[in-house]
Amino acid sequence: MTAPRAELALPKEVTGRAPGRGRLAGRRVLVIGAGQQTHDVEDPPIGNGRAISVLCGREGAWVAIADIDGDAAAETARQVRSEGCRTVTVVGDAADETDVEGMVTSAARELGGLDGLVMNVGVPHGIGFEGTSADDWDRSFAVNVRSHFLGCKHALRLLSAGGSVVLISSIAALIPVNEIPAYHASKAALAGLCCFAAHDAARKGIRVNLVVPGLIDTSLGRLATTFDPARADKQVPLGREGTAWEVAYAVSFLLSDEASYITGQSLVVDGGYAALR
Ligand SMILES: NC(=O)c1ccc[n+]([C@@H]2O[C@H](COP(=O)([O-])OP(=O)(O)OC[C@H]3O[C@@H](n4cnc5c(N)ncnc54)[C@H](O)[C@@H]3O)[C@@H](O)[C@H]2O)c1
Repeated sequence: MTAPRAELALPKEVTGRAPGRGRLAGRRVLVIGAGQQTHDVEDPPIGNGRAISVLCGREGAWVAIADIDGDAAAETARQVRSEGCRTVTVVGDAADETDVEGMVTSAARELGGLDGLVMNVGVPHGIGFEGTSADDWDRSFAVNVRSHFLGCKHALRLLSAGGSVVLISSIAALIPVNEIPAYHASKAALAGLCCFAAHDAARKGIRVNLVVPGLIDTSLGRLATTFDPARADKQVPLGREGTAWEVAYAVSFLLSDEASYITGQSLVVDGGYAALR
């Protein structure tokens, strides 16, 4: 008898227990939004930004950790250093141009250059049209889109040829997944930014891609699951939510030389949800 999809043995990569393979050896990567919010979830699972940072370190990179929350950034830095790699931490607001310029220049100065940038910041503000103010809309676009624009603008000046930028979007850019209009719209805007940035950066030998996570078991994802516990079992062809580690593996692939001929693309990490419904 065939085992139910969710009960099939899962590889160690799913839970972040696989060893590093040196895929990012010698690379210097800045992750903006590298901390983690817990959203009052008990025993919170690792978030995307932290898993991306830890996996970059495990794969041999030096990692600059930037976040608006100094404590969350410090905890990520501690976990990355335990993988045996060098880190630098920068605290600032990714929606603020001066702060982003500071994150990029500090990272490049402390790490001796920059080969990779991951823009992970993304926040949900407002609920439904009636529950979304113009300020909710503007703050969403400031944190979810302006930050990514600023990261590209300042990092593309400093990234080495062969460098790579990864912007974290969401399947909210592709299909309705929650009740937050500003989140859907701002995540969709990243596709246009990626298109422009990839074309602009190609002349310098730098690649820019999007990673598009689906229903992921992070703190925020778990909060959503409490309202609809069976949402992934019902809707996702692979029959489960993804983990932040699975997002991190997609990001590390795009950061690495394994993706040397891939630019301007979206890599959807959603267990088939958007394409196979
Ligand atoms: N969890 C999911 O199910 C899911 C699904 C699709 C996409 N995503 C995307 O993944 C990304 C975040 O995932 P996560 O698990 O790392 O979330 P998280 O909330 O744990 O981490 C995001 C980090 O960004 C930081 N941050 C927020 N605003 C900032 C700002 N203005 N300046 C600097 N740092 C700021 C937070 O302090 C936090 O440490 C977002 O872009 C989100 O849209 C998540």
